[in-house]
Amino acid sequence: MSLSFFALRNFLLLSKNMDGSRFWSSQYVAGSERAFGAGGKLMRDINEFTITNAVKKTFKTEEGSRFEQLLHSFLDHLHDFTRENQITHEEWMGVLNFLYDCGQISTPERHEFILLSDVVGFSALVDMINTRGGATEGSNLGPFYLDEAPRKTLGADLSDDREGVCVLVHGKVTDTLHNPLGGAIVDTWQADAAGTYPIQEQEQGQDKFDLRGVFETDEHGRYYYTTVLPKPYTVPYDGPVGKLLRAGNRHAWRPAHLHYIVRAPGMSSITTEIFFENAEYLDNDAVFGVRKSLIAKLGPAKDVDVLGYKLDKTPDAICEFDFVLAPEG
Ligand code: BEZ
Ligand code: FE
Repeated sequence: MSLSFFALRNFLLLSKNMDGSRFWSSQYVAGSERAFGAGGKLMRDINEFTITNAVKKTFKTEEGSRFEQLLHSFLDHLHDFTRENQITHEEWMGVLNFLYDCGQISTPERHEFILLSDVVGFSALVDMINTRGGATEGSNLGPFYLDEAPRKTLGADLSDDREGVCVLVHGKVTDTLHNPLGGAIVDTWQADAAGTYPIQEQEQGQDKFDLRGVFETDEHGRYYYTTVLPKPYTVPYDGPVGKLLRAGNRHAWRPAHLHYIVRAPGMSSITTEIFFENAEYLDNDAVFGVRKSLIAKLGPAKDVDVLGYKLDKTPDAICEFDFVLAPEG
């Protein structure tokens, strides 16, 4: 090998990126030599337009597989985005550092990448795409779901004497042909009247299983329980996602809501939320969870006796919402 080859190679190995660290490594050079092998022309002739196919070819994916489709499409969009916007080194490193910061602040209890997905509408888009025709629309799972929430009997109160408006939440679970689904599972969790999830205040002595419950519908597909009316709250904004919101002059508020996972044998389960008519932030939810079909009316509880439910607590208000499940498959 000529001296100039070594000079060039050393130059590349010693090149620094913007924060002073080396961005060419010997593993990278050796790896690319292996990847392109005898057909190295592709690498030598590479330019800003041919690089996309060159990168795709280095992955030996199963032809026609879903993995290949998603990987190739991702690379196409990433490279197109980079070309179309003529991304600078500063912007490139800004993105990478932002992702690094998301990783740094994440813990088992705090997944900043999910929050990122939420505030850019990625989560909502996946929910929309995966909503089954005729079924209740899907909406955010959020970070506060807990497996193994306590089973509760119909008519139970979830509020545990917390202050606030006591609301009867009730309705039916049906299939898309309006047949009631008895024995369906309605798993719910929510914030309190201050907009806080008990799981966020365990250090202050709160039980993480408070304000949640798993109900089984009766033979008419009905579910009913009382709880405290939740308040709006903010998504966490003390990390990189908060910085992104501030940079875009956006707030972090979510309208008050109740979370649900509803499932029944042979049916596709749904993850969704119920919102309340005329509530704050319905038209500017920080995570795009609101759908017109998920906004429930909130009425006074004067006619509660007519419903014939056996309730543990007398409600001040009533919220009615029916869930519709589509068949599996
Ligand atoms: C929630 O609804 O609980 C939630 C959703 C997205 C981010 C943070 C919280
Ligand atoms: Fe929530």
